[in-house]
Amino acid sequence: MTATLITNIGELVTNDSEIGDGSRLGILRDAAIVLDGNRVAWVGRATDAPATDTRVDVEGRAVVPGFVDSHTHLVFAGERSAEFAARMAGEPYTGGGIMTTVAATRAASTDELRENTRRLLAEATASGTTTVEIKSGYGLTIADERRLLEVASEFTDETTFLGAHVVPAEYANDRAAYVDLVCGEMLVACAPLARWIDVFCDTGAFDEAETRRVLAAGIAAGLLPRLHGNQLEHGPGVRLAVEFGAASVDHCTYLSSVDIDSLAASTTVATLLPGADFSTRAPYADARRLLDAGVTIALATDCNPGSSYTTSMPLMIALAVREMRLTPAEALFAATTGGAAALRRDDISRLAPGMRADLVVLDAPSYVHLAYRPGAPAVSQTWRGGAKHAL
Ligand code: NIG
Ligand code: FE
Repeated sequence: MTATLITNIGELVTNDSEIGDGSRLGILRDAAIVLDGNRVAWVGRATDAPATDTRVDVEGRAVVPGFVDSHTHLVFAGERSAEFAARMAGEPYTGGGIMTTVAATRAASTDELRENTRRLLAEATASGTTTVEIKSGYGLTIADERRLLEVASEFTDETTFLGAHVVPAEYANDRAAYVDLVCGEMLVACAPLARWIDVFCDTGAFDEAETRRVLAAGIAAGLLPRLHGNQLEHGPGVRLAVEFGAASVDHCTYLSSVDIDSLAASTTVATLLPGADFSTRAPYADARRLLDAGVTIALATDCNPGSSYTTSMPLMIALAVREMRLTPAEALFAATTGGAAALRRDDISRLAPGMRADLVVLDAPSYVHLAYRPGAPAVSQTWRGGAKHAL
């Protein structure tokens, strides 16, 4: 068979409850997997594996599905370490620093933005991310938002138009004119480059009426809705996300019982961003309560230079376990299948025949080490679409 066999896997997490131990993670021990082209061709016990041209022996390591980072803002220039230091000394996070990054991003060349994005994505791949969503939102002019989406599209199909990130300073006295621009000419320029429409619906960003306008315009332009909501305070974000049938509402740091009940009764995923809670010293989202209510949750990095400057999904898993009271199994599931659900993807995050061959060979005998050894390099190999990435 002209395929690749990865064998001598001590613990294989398939995320397919039909395979393996019957748990939701579908764990198989002493396992092997065959990749053919960009797909999984076979999964089973190593002793039953078919012969293939190429054989990779992972010496008892654990293999898990590639991480799905369903929320990032990777295209930007500059950094905001001084803002972070001020916050750790007691300043609150308000989102006001977004305009600092907008200024640096507008001033950067497209080559520079592309190189920054490439570097961060290489870092993400080295920590096991195989699918990434990337938002615009640091341009906030027609030309700059388009430029950011052009760069994002070079790296992923999961691109999101976030012209409604904040109202830029030049529109401070005429917010309605900026919302008109986002829903009008900017959307026309950006929609062909985006799959998703997003709005930062929160205090200091966009209110309920503005969010409704932008989501409705984006949907009319053929984009699918997702939302930043309930990061800075209790607000209308979750309610709007559910009402608009959003694939996901992201942050969910401040939730009411009504929010949780409505998420549980919906198909909207609650995407939790523990890196943002960590770096803004916010309370952690109540993942335990969401899961116990039956809400589908995802974990993502929110990688951006203001509220969460990390690409590490293993760190998100460790924070979710320690600070949000998820079990290691629940956190891994949220970082893989949860992310796939938040992107409405059914071709990734499960290691079963026919699925995309996106997987991570951990430098550990068990997936539990993702939380048990925080900060340690977790990944030995990342395979995306059946190809091994040079790390
Ligand atoms: O998801 N909340 C809005 N946007 C980003 C932060 C952007 C920034 O501070 O630069 C977030 O946390
Ligand atoms: Fe974000």
